[in-house]
Parts: sequence; C-alpha cells; structure tokens
Amino acid sequence: MRILVTGGAGFIGSNFVRAAVRERPDSRVTVLDALTYAGSRDSLRGIDDKIEFVEGDIADSALVDSLVSGCDAVVHFAAESHNDNSLIDPWPFVRTNIIGTYTLLQAIREHGVRYHHVSTDEVYGDLELDDPTKFTEHTAYNPSSPYSSTKAASDMLVRAWVRSYGIRATLSNCSNNYGPYQHVEKFIPRQITNVLTGVRPKLYGAGLNVRDWIHVDDHNAAVWKILEEGQTGRTYLIGADGELDNLTVVRTILELMGHDPDDFDHVKDRAGHDLRYAIDASTLRDELGWSPRYNDFREGLQATIDWYRDNRAWWEKNKDAVEMRYETQGA
Ligand code: NAD
Ligand code: TYD
Repeated sequence: MRILVTGGAGFIGSNFVRAAVRERPDSRVTVLDALTYAGSRDSLRGIDDKIEFVEGDIADSALVDSLVSGCDAVVHFAAESHNDNSLIDPWPFVRTNIIGTYTLLQAIREHGVRYHHVSTDEVYGDLELDDPTKFTEHTAYNPSSPYSSTKAASDMLVRAWVRSYGIRATLSNCSNNYGPYQHVEKFIPRQITNVLTGVRPKLYGAGLNVRDWIHVDDHNAAVWKILEEGQTGRTYLIGADGELDNLTVVRTILELMGHDPDDFDHVKDRAGHDLRYAIDASTLRDELGWSPRYNDFREGLQATIDWYRDNRAWWEKNKDAVEMRYETQGA
C-alpha cells in the first residue's frame, strides 16, 4: 500500500510512521508535514531512508492533489492540536483543521483514494464527573473550545463528503494519548520535563478534571485496524478505559520519578475547561477485534518518563519557549 500520512512529524503521526516502517515493511510511506512548532524531523530520525518526506501545507491544493493522486490511502493526522493555544489564537486552528481538511477531501474525491480521518473525543464536549455514561458514536457533537470545534467541523466535512460524493472514508475519535515524541506543551510531557529540569509540576485548578488515557501505540494499532477493516462512512471511538483525574496523574509522575507526590503547584484553570472525557470503545473491540496492549497506566507512564529522561535533546530545545508562554498566561 502506498500511504500518505499527513502530520507524520507530529506526536501521533510520527509514532504511526515508525509502526508502519517496523510492522508493515511492504507499505510505502510518504509524510506530508508543514513542520510547524509542533512538528520535527527529529521525530522521524533513524527511519529517514525508509520514507519519503515532503515539507508542505495540507491547505496547498496543488501539492495535496499531486501527492494524493500517487497513493492508495491517506491517513490524516495533521492538525493544530493544543487547546490552550486555540484559546489565544484560533485562526491557525480554523485554517489547518477546517480548510486543510477540506483541501484534502477535494483531492480524495477527485482521485477516489481511501481516506482515514483522525479525530478526537473532544468533539462531544464533556461529561459530568459523576455521570456514569461514556461517549459513544451516537453522542451528539457539543464541542467547547476553538480546537475541539474546528475538529468537529472537520469531522462534519468528512461525513458530508461520504454522503454527497461517496468518498471511501472512515473516522476515528480517540481519547487523550500519551507516549514518546509528545510536545512538551502537553500535560504529561510538561510535568515530566518540569521534574527533569527542577521545576514543580503545574496543575490547572483543583485537578479534578478527568481524561481517558491511552498509549499512542494502542491508538495507532486501532487506526491500522480501521484503515484495513473498517466500514466506509463509519465512525469508530478509540479508548482504553484509562480514566484518571489530573491530580492522580501528577502525583503518579512525581512518585515514579522519586519525588514527594505533593511537590506540585496549583495554577490558573483553563477557560472553559472540559470536566471529563470517557470513551466506550465496544464497537471497535467487538466488531474489529481490537484491544489495547498497554493495560497498566503506571507501566506505560514509567516507559514514557524513561523516554523523556533518555531523549533530552529531542525536547530541551522547546522547553524554555513553552514555559515562557505558559508564564505569561499564569499557567
Ligand atoms: P501534534 O500537534 O503533535 O502534530 C501535528 C502535526 O501536524 C505536526 O507535525 C505539525 O507540523 C503538522 N501540521 C500542522 N499544521 C499543518 C498543516 N497546515 N499542513 C501540514 N502539516 C501540519 O498533534 P498530535 O497530538 O500528534 O495529534 C494528531 C492528530 O490526532 C490530530 O488530528 C489530533 O486532533 C488527533 N488527536 C490527538 C489526540 C492527543 O491526545 N494528542 C487525541 C485524539 C486525537
Ligand atoms: P492537555 O494535554 O492539554 O490535553 P487536552 O486539553 O486535550 O485534554 O491537558 C490534559 C489535561 O491536563 C487537561 O485537563 C488540562 C490539564 N493540564 C494541567 O493541569 N496542567 C498543564 O500544565 C497542562 C498543559 C494541562
């Protein structure tokens, strides 16, 4: 399979490309990535000779058309992905997540190529902390932030292109990922690298917000499964029953790194902060036979901590700028 991976220099995309090179040696991978602040060639180091890398924008219709015409499938990870940034400047989110996806869809339509759209559970808004229910593929869209609303808009475009133009597309909405190569602006890597640089971890508000954590390799294994066996037009929810509140996550990071679990600061809460996300992934488990390999969060977190400890050169160059930006926000 000739596969075009957008956003392949970002967190989840680079792990996907690594898995493809490792586990699907007969696939030919082209990465299209604009190398924004969130993307790095260093995330693909060591496999450069096994892939084709194109630096470019998913909103560049001529470039996208020529790349899509030469492949069998597109897996679309490229996005502006950080809620905090979206609150300060929503425009790149509208441009990349909506116009970029539209540009890809037009090329998919033109060339009849198989398409998988990677999205987030945040399109569903949030759940109450004491609500026993979880998101399913039938939950109504109700996004809260500029990030999640632009992802919701992109999902809607895909659904409309399936219905109106018959494109061969599947969608997945996954919960919060953790693992190697995640940008230090995000919650888990920010706290690990804070500890590694002698800074106290920063918890928004009281830290009672719940996220449903999944290891990035489990997310990507599900994406492969859907790409190969999923039904056109269908949405699959991806999650690994990993609900934890942020307070517990920070305390676990500190404990695993040999610090006092109370050695963190409470900082200003995020505006409009979603309370809880939780995924019911039974369709994916029952119909496609997927199940997560990382069932012990502490083990996966320890491996992630070890990766950040062993790969300082990968993240150190971004750390100061990220912390300076958070400082101006009181976070
Ligand atoms: P990321 O921010 O780490 O990576 C995004 C990548 O897209 C970067 O390499 C960036 O350079 C590239 N990019 C941005 N704008 C581009 C453009 N206009 N043209 C080409 N490339 C561009 O994001 P991530 O965490 O890897 O997320 C990947 C996808 O998965 C996103 O669609 C996100 O919504 C979705 N997702 C993420 C999570 C999570 O927990 N991180 C959970 C569910 C879904
Ligand atoms: P984040 O990694 O930004 O993912 P998302 O907003 O997509 O869930 O944040 C995860 C959770 O951690 C979220 O509830 C916000 C919180 N958080 C902190 O408490 N401190 C931090 O420094 C950051 C970046 C996030």
